[in-house]
Amino acid sequence: MGTARAMWVLYDGAVALLSIENLNICFGSTQAVRGLSLSIAPGESLGLVGESGSGKSVTALAVLRLLDAAATVSGRIEFDRRDLVALPAEEMRRLRGREIAMIFQEPMTALNPVLPVGEQIAEAVRVHQRELSRRQVREKVIEAMQAVSLPDPAGRYGDYPHQFSGGQRQRILIAMAIANRPRLLIADEPTTALDVTVQAQILELLADLRERFGLAMLFISHDLAVVSQVADRVAVMRHGLLLEEAPRAAIFREPLHPYTRSLLGAVPTMRTDLQEPLSIVGASGGEPADVPLREAAPGHWARV
Ligand SMILES: Nc1ncnc2c1ncn2[C@@H]1O[C@H](COP(=O)(O)OP(=O)(O)O)[C@@H](O)[C@H]1O
Ligand SMILES: [Mg+2]
Repeated sequence: MGTARAMWVLYDGAVALLSIENLNICFGSTQAVRGLSLSIAPGESLGLVGESGSGKSVTALAVLRLLDAAATVSGRIEFDRRDLVALPAEEMRRLRGREIAMIFQEPMTALNPVLPVGEQIAEAVRVHQRELSRRQVREKVIEAMQAVSLPDPAGRYGDYPHQFSGGQRQRILIAMAIANRPRLLIADEPTTALDVTVQAQILELLADLRERFGLAMLFISHDLAVVSQVADRVAVMRHGLLLEEAPRAAIFREPLHPYTRSLLGAVPTMRTDLQEPLSIVGASGGEPADVPLREAAPGHWARV
């Protein structure tokens, strides 16, 4: 197995929908992301996992070109063969929310408290589909509310965010995100603010939407257990560096990097050998930047 990562063609021969190559993000002298390469096939779900501060959110923001001016970005980001780094601002605005949608962690702060939820979803539709009549927009809103299983969409169209529970508010944000039928959904810690039961329901919903709409997903979380419920492939990051990437099953069956193992140590799962003291492996497995990514098995990369 070699060390070259050809990002256009994935290991199973699929052509990438999103392809990130050698992405570097700096804030002054802080290197938040270091030489990151990742790709996502159409309809595929990639889970990006790592502790707080590892560079997950800034990676997502770089894809959407929403990083603030303090950030210095280099590398290639291509979506559907378009170079997102060089795309004119106007085209980027059209693409954002239409072809790539995003949901964030905080359902309350992302919604406008003084605007009915139906109107907020309608606004998301109108921005990208100006040709639609009022009635057509309303139909799309109801459809989106139905798709995320909000009860009584027509009846609750005019209700305000505070009249919904936390889980329902996250459903409203997901409805806004999918209303324009994007091809890629970026979900950054979408369930972190929710309690465990609601979290499970939202994960189930995301899995269901993926299947129904053929949605590709970049699913970000600090929690490997959560990621493993929705991701086909898992990428593990720490300190801005990709440490390991593999199909979900391989991450659990044969984690190669000590950091991945330490994350797994907290997850009692199918094939965790309880005799093996995973917890003693520890999170600090050498200085990772010195070690190049190596393909240990087809599609399984690690800095070991
Ligand atoms: N606007 C900013 N200005 C300066 N540093 C930032 C900014 N945004 C993020 N960072 C830094 O970049 C690193 C990665 O942050 P982030 O992507 O938010 O991590 P996480 O993996 O928790 O999402 C952190 O060290 C953070 O302090
Ligand atoms: Mg984050």
